[in-house]
Amino acid sequence: MVLIAPSLVSSDFSILKEEVIALEKAGADMIHLDIMDGRFVPNLTFGAPVVKSIRGATKLPFDAHLMVENPELMVESFAKAGADFITVHAETTAHLDRVLQKIKSLGAKAGVALNPSTDESAIKYVLDRLDLVLVMSVNPGFGGQSFIQSSLEKIARIKKMVKGYPVMVEVDGGINPLTAAASIAAGADILVAGSAVFKTGDYRQNIKALR
Ligand code: DX5
Ligand code: ZN
Repeated sequence: MVLIAPSLVSSDFSILKEEVIALEKAGADMIHLDIMDGRFVPNLTFGAPVVKSIRGATKLPFDAHLMVENPELMVESFAKAGADFITVHAETTAHLDRVLQKIKSLGAKAGVALNPSTDESAIKYVLDRLDLVLVMSVNPGFGGQSFIQSSLEKIARIKKMVKGYPVMVEVDGGINPLTAAASIAAGADILVAGSAVFKTGDYRQNIKALR
């Protein structure tokens, strides 16, 4: 059964806590937190203090997607803020193996995100450190973009790569009922969705339409 992780990047930031509660009521499996530093991506969202402030609103796992330079400097604050999954971009650190070990030592699950142009060979030597691979199906930084079709063959290749490892494949960007079905068929275990969930008020209906 595919897991749905709505991304707060498309939510109403003035009522984040209420949005999280509404998503849980609507059947979300995880809450995707798009952390953007305005350097790795041309957008700035929110940091660990905000994550901490909404942690008590739900028991759902917090899935932190760090779109930040030098993530090794930030992983501890997100783990302390209550992030259950901490995913870093392979493109943002020369020491991926070390930062994944650090995430695990903090008691969180470790993920690697790959931009659309980054080859999956980037995770070849860290498969035993991973709980999650995040396949970016848009160029990170903004919600509401269109799904990059070549992501589908990449998802299938990564699914094969992680066979035999307890690693989930998550897809992030441009997910709607059509691209959701294609991503699931290609092997996706978790789908991140921003605009497809928040576009209209009926979160339950919108989440159901993605499964
Ligand atoms: C892009 C983010 C994605 C994206 C999801 O940088 O990582 O989570 O905002 O939004 P939609 O589903 O609208 O593409
Ligand atoms: Zn994301």
